[in-house]
Amino acid sequence: MEVLAAHVPAYTNVVVTGGRGGLPVPLVLGPACVGRVIDVAPDVFHVAPGDIVLDTALLDAGGGDEILVGWVGLGGSGAGSERTDRMREVWHDGVFAEKALCAKETMIKLPGAEDYPDPARLSFLTWLCVAAEGLHAAGPLAGRDVAVLGATGQMGGAAVLLALAEGAATVTAVGRNKKALDRLAELGPRVRTHQLTGDRATDAAGIGPVDVVLDALGATPTADATMAAYDSLRVRGTMVLVGGVRQDLAIPYGDFMHRRLTLRGSWMSNDETVLTVWNLIRSGVLDLSAVELLTVGLDEAETALDLAERTSGLSFVALVP
Ligand SMILES: NC(=O)c1ccc[n+]([C@@H]2O[C@H](COP(=O)([O-])OP(=O)(O)OC[C@H]3O[C@@H](n4cnc5c(N)ncnc54)[C@H](OP(=O)(O)O)[C@@H]3O)[C@@H](O)[C@H]2O)c1
Repeated sequence: MEVLAAHVPAYTNVVVTGGRGGLPVPLVLGPACVGRVIDVAPDVFHVAPGDIVLDTALLDAGGGDEILVGWVGLGGSGAGSERTDRMREVWHDGVFAEKALCAKETMIKLPGAEDYPDPARLSFLTWLCVAAEGLHAAGPLAGRDVAVLGATGQMGGAAVLLALAEGAATVTAVGRNKKALDRLAELGPRVRTHQLTGDRATDAAGIGPVDVVLDALGATPTADATMAAYDSLRVRGTMVLVGGVRQDLAIPYGDFMHRRLTLRGSWMSNDETVLTVWNLIRSGVLDLSAVELLTVGLDEAETALDLAERTSGLSFVALVP
């Protein structure tokens, strides 16, 4: 596959310095990209030379054994197994490259993407799809009040765009960064913002009441913001966790039961979600011109890591070989 553009996640610097678990080094890094198929093995029929595809990096052997090729993060318990070790040996290198050899299971055709005017922008699809998969775990969004925790981050920004495109009545963007919140507010009158104060009761009152919460926070030192969002849920509400918070949540049994809440986790995305999100973009319902694309070249590794770490809100960094 010819790599057209690959999203450089904000925490790539943390990944390369070992802060997110081990990698089978040496390797070509890079979790996902948009690319053009150059050639396929004889047993590959769902994509063909010339097709524009999203490579999601997700390789699933079933039974919770899932890897992200060229990246950290394992599905299931996250602990890995002898089988995921073998998978990582065979499918080793990622897509921060001019060309990449990819497992057929990681590639999804984007019909009509040949005509999309700015293919590099489509590398944001990976984050949009992770956000969409999480939001869809809460059921249809149309007419419901949605809050996105960590909306000032790249995943959160993607979630705000998605929830608006799928007809949420209101989307409350929650974060610390005032400038990023103001930018989100400019997306339209359905966007509300709440700047986190650190006080659980104040934050809960500022966020809700809402029907759906998507937690897309990065690594926070406490679970306070997540629990404030939990408090902000209406009866029968759903909270979905997709972020990088590595804290335990103290869920009060009686409260959870009496409010009939649902707590879900969501990891990466499946082919159906990718096609849904792509069709929202293709049809113009989800307009990616709201997102600022910052491009870096293959020989600018340090710049890319630094820029990605400093990039948030409705902006993202893409490596364009
Ligand atoms: N579930 C999945 O499949 C999946 C896939 C990919 C990534 N992820 C996770 O998604 C997370 C977010 O990714 P991203 O690209 O959006 O990262 P990002 O752009 O760095 O955003 C991080 C967000 O967390 C907030 N935040 C960070 N520290 C905080 C603190 N101490 N208190 C309150 N808020 C804090 C930031 O808010 P401010 O900037 O406003 O301070 C920002 O909104 C990552 O950590 C990653 O683990 C999950």
